[in-house]
Amino acid sequence: MSDQPNQKLHDVGGWLYSDIVKDHFFNPRNILIDEEGYEAHGIGVVGSPACGDMMAVWIKVDLDTQKISECKWRTFGCASAIASTSMMSTMATENGGMTLVQAKRLSPEAIIDRLGGLPDRKYHCSVLGHQALREAVMDYEETN
Ligand code: FES
Repeated sequence: MSDQPNQKLHDVGGWLYSDIVKDHFFNPRNILIDEEGYEAHGIGVVGSPACGDMMAVWIKVDLDTQKISECKWRTFGCASAIASTSMMSTMATENGGMTLVQAKRLSPEAIIDRLGGLPDRKYHCSVLGHQALREAVMDYEETN
């Protein structure tokens, strides 16, 4: 295992997971367990045609700054989807939160980069969270 967090582990074509991926899988950030009492400003739900897994993202937006203040999620996806979405939710809300434009532009590559890489065949898992975030932002924009 590399001690360089930004090494592209997916470039080696194997099944290695970075320590950052493992951390976000075993300690996922911002999971929403029970959405009953959670009043989201925008909701996005997507499924992966590659594996049939579902991803839901709930966001809250700071109405003054129009930045994402909370980003919650839940998935039936695999370990890579969990780690990727945990990182996505961290990136969306860190440093005062992303603007709506930044959130819609967040790419799977940027998430994978922050994770220190993902195996090539796990790329589609990182797409789920990013797509659901974009759907949630568009849901917010349509209703506000
Ligand atoms: S294999 Fe389906 S989300 Fe990873």
